[in-house]
Amino acid sequence: MSCSNNCLWCARLWVQLPRDTGRRSLGLKTFLSLSSSIIDLLQGKESNELFQAQSHLYKHMLSFISSMSIKSAVQLSIPDIINNDGQPITLSELASALDIHPTKAGFIHRLMCLLVHHGFFNSAKIGHDEEAYDLTPSSRLLKDKIPSLSPFVMSLLDPALITPWHLLGNWFQKEEKMPPFESAHGMSFWAYVNKNSDFNNHFNQAMAIDSGMMNLVVKDCKPVFEGLSSLVDVGGGTGTISKIIIETFPHIKCTVLDLPHVVANLPATENLKFIGGDMFQGIPSADAILLKLMLHCWSDEECLKVLKICRVAIPSNGGKVIITDIVINKDKDDPELTEGKLYFDLLMMILVTGRERSEKDWEKLFLEAGFSHYKITPLFGLRSLIEVFPRKQLSSNESVHLRTSLISMVARNSMQLFVFLPGLHPKLMNKMQIGSDKTIKNNEYIESADENEVFAITQITVTDCGCGWASN
Ligand SMILES: C[S@@+](CC[C@H](N)C(=O)[O-])C[C@H]1O[C@@H](n2cnc3c(N)ncnc32)[C@H](O)[C@@H]1O
Repeated sequence: MSCSNNCLWCARLWVQLPRDTGRRSLGLKTFLSLSSSIIDLLQGKESNELFQAQSHLYKHMLSFISSMSIKSAVQLSIPDIINNDGQPITLSELASALDIHPTKAGFIHRLMCLLVHHGFFNSAKIGHDEEAYDLTPSSRLLKDKIPSLSPFVMSLLDPALITPWHLLGNWFQKEEKMPPFESAHGMSFWAYVNKNSDFNNHFNQAMAIDSGMMNLVVKDCKPVFEGLSSLVDVGGGTGTISKIIIETFPHIKCTVLDLPHVVANLPATENLKFIGGDMFQGIPSADAILLKLMLHCWSDEECLKVLKICRVAIPSNGGKVIITDIVINKDKDDPELTEGKLYFDLLMMILVTGRERSEKDWEKLFLEAGFSHYKITPLFGLRSLIEVFPRKQLSSNESVHLRTSLISMVARNSMQLFVFLPGLHPKLMNKMQIGSDKTIKNNEYIESADENEVFAITQITVTDCGCGWASN
C-alpha cells in the first residue's frame, strides 16, 4: 500500500495505523483521504510556486513594455493633452485630441490601461460609464511645463542607448574594457554626443531639466552655499544649476566647465562664465567645486583623478567640493528607491565607465583623494547632496583644541586618526584619557582608555562645527 509516488512518508503513515482490523479499515479510509489531500497540497504548493515564479519572470522579462509605453505617451503628448484640459478627459476626447490615425483610436484604451495600472494616470468612470483620465504626480513631470522630464524619457530611451543592452551578455564574456555602448557605436558615449547634434541637444536639454528640479531645493540648501564667493560647476552642461544658484545667492560668481561642444556659444553674464575644457586636464580655482551627476559617470580611478584636481583647485581652509549623486543605501532606502538606484548603476556600466556607490565607496574615494571628511544629505529623491572637505593642514606652531570624547567616537570606527603637520614626524608625547579635553600642539600619539587602541595623531580636520576628524 503506497501512494502513486511510492513515497516513504506514506509508508510510514501506513505502519503507524492501529493493528485492530475494525479500526484498521477505518484507519485505511482515513489514511487514503489524508494522504491524497497531503499529496494534493504538496503538489499544489509546488505548482503554485512554479506559476508564481513564471509570473515573476514574465513580469521582469516584459518590463521594457513599461518603459516603451511611457515613451509613446510622451511622443503622443498624452500628459500635455490631459493637462491642457484642466479636468479629467474622457477616452473619446483623448482619442480625438491625439495626433493619431483614426484606425488606431480603439487601441489607445489599452495603452492607457497599462499606464493607469503603473500609476502614470488616474482613471475614473464618468457620465455614461465612460472612462476618464487625469494626471498623477508622475505624469505631471512629463507635461511640457517646467519641470518636464519628457526630454529625459526621450533621450534615455533613444535607440542609440537601447542597442548596447543587446550586447551585455556578450560583454561579460570578453576581456575588453570599453563599455557596451562603445562596442555598439565604435566610440565613447561622450564622443557620440559630440558627433550627433540632435542627440547632443536632447541630452543637454534632458540634463538641464533634471538640474531645473534643483530649483525646488536650492533655497533649502542655504548653509551649503553660505560663505562661498566663487563656484565652478564641473560638467555643468548649459549652466542650469549655476543659474539657479546665482538667482538664490547673487554674490556667488559661477563658472561652468564642460566639453567645448556643450558650452560653445553660450552667452556669459556678469556672474556666469562658460569655459570649454577637459576636467581631467584642469579645473579653475574657486571656493567650491560642484559635481552634479558627474562622478557616477566615471570609474574609481577616473574619479580619483578628478577629485585630486578638485582638491588642488579649492582652498585648504573653507573650501569644499559639493557633489549631488546617488548613494546606494539598501538597508535604509525603501525597495523602490533602491531599484531605481540599481538601474542607474547598470546604466552607467552600459553607457560609460561609471558606477553608483555606497557611502563606504564614496568615503574611500574622498580619503584617497586627500579629503578628510564629508557630510551626506539625502535631499533629491534618488540623489543625495554630499559636501566634501579638505584636510586642514596646520602650520607647525598652530594648535587645535580637541574634545577627546570625539576621538573615542571616531576611534571605534577606524584604526588611526591623523594630524598632519608638514615636515614633522609623529612622536609619542603623552597619554590621555578619553572624555577629557585636550589641546594638540604637535604631532603626537593618543592612547585611548582601551589599552589595545593607540592612535597616531598625524592629521586633524577642523570643520565648521569644530568636530571633524579624519581617518586615514
Ligand atoms: C551626466 S551629465 C551631467 C550634467 C550636469 N552636471 C547636470 O547634472 O545636469 C555629464 C556632463 O559632463 C560633461 N563632461 C563629460 N566629459 C567631460 C570632461 N572630460 N570634462 C568636462 N566635462 C565633461 C558632459 O558634457 C555632460 O555635460
